[in-house]
Amino acid sequence: MGRYVDLHSHFLPALDDGAKDLPMSLEMVSALASLGFEVLTATPHQRANKFMPTRTDIDSAYKTVGHEVAGAFPQLQLGLAAENFWDDVFRQRLMEGGLPCYPSGKSFLFEFDPRLMPPMIEQQLFQIRLSRRLPVMAHPERYVEVQNDIGRAEVLGRTAALVVDLGALDGAHGRAEKKTARKLMESGFVHAVTSDIHTAEDQRSIAAGMAWITKRLGPGSLDRLLDENPRRILAGELP
Ligand SMILES: [Fe+2]
Repeated sequence: MGRYVDLHSHFLPALDDGAKDLPMSLEMVSALASLGFEVLTATPHQRANKFMPTRTDIDSAYKTVGHEVAGAFPQLQLGLAAENFWDDVFRQRLMEGGLPCYPSGKSFLFEFDPRLMPPMIEQQLFQIRLSRRLPVMAHPERYVEVQNDIGRAEVLGRTAALVVDLGALDGAHGRAEKKTARKLMESGFVHAVTSDIHTAEDQRSIAAGMAWITKRLGPGSLDRLLDENPRRILAGELP
């Protein structure tokens, strides 16, 4: 029986650069189930001028997949959130309401341009924490400033949960990302790991990332990074 919790995935069909259709969605869900996941959180992109599926389309895709999953994988629990790109839409939603959060409403996933870290991001994250919400930073290993100075992650990780992509640990996203992902894991700055699955073929690199963690950080590490900590993050708590 699986018990792992995924905070970041793109298995809902025809919304972004993830699953293209329902059969592909179900292949991805099946891949995650076979790796031991029990809770799958769909995080379709929300990025101005690139991926901005409507609320109606997202809810409809989630309902359709949920119906199929309930029949084929009754052991799985699905959740819906979003991967919010740090742009004007995000900032407006943050101030005025309407930011798509994890189901508890207390935490949300975000990303930004790998080469353009938002200015004074630590102060901005601190302000968000004061409003009793937990920001969850997707793939810190991709950001050039973190690649150049791993110490940035220590500071960022005081106000945001840092969630590394499992595939990055196996080199699925490039050499710099692999090196930084591994350094981040070894440094202990990472709060959780995620699938960030975009196709069923990602199963191989996700599994390789899990194997790397077990081998390098010890057998209890997966329980902490894929079970205990992500459950706390979903509840709005910084582990
Ligand atoms: Fe993603």
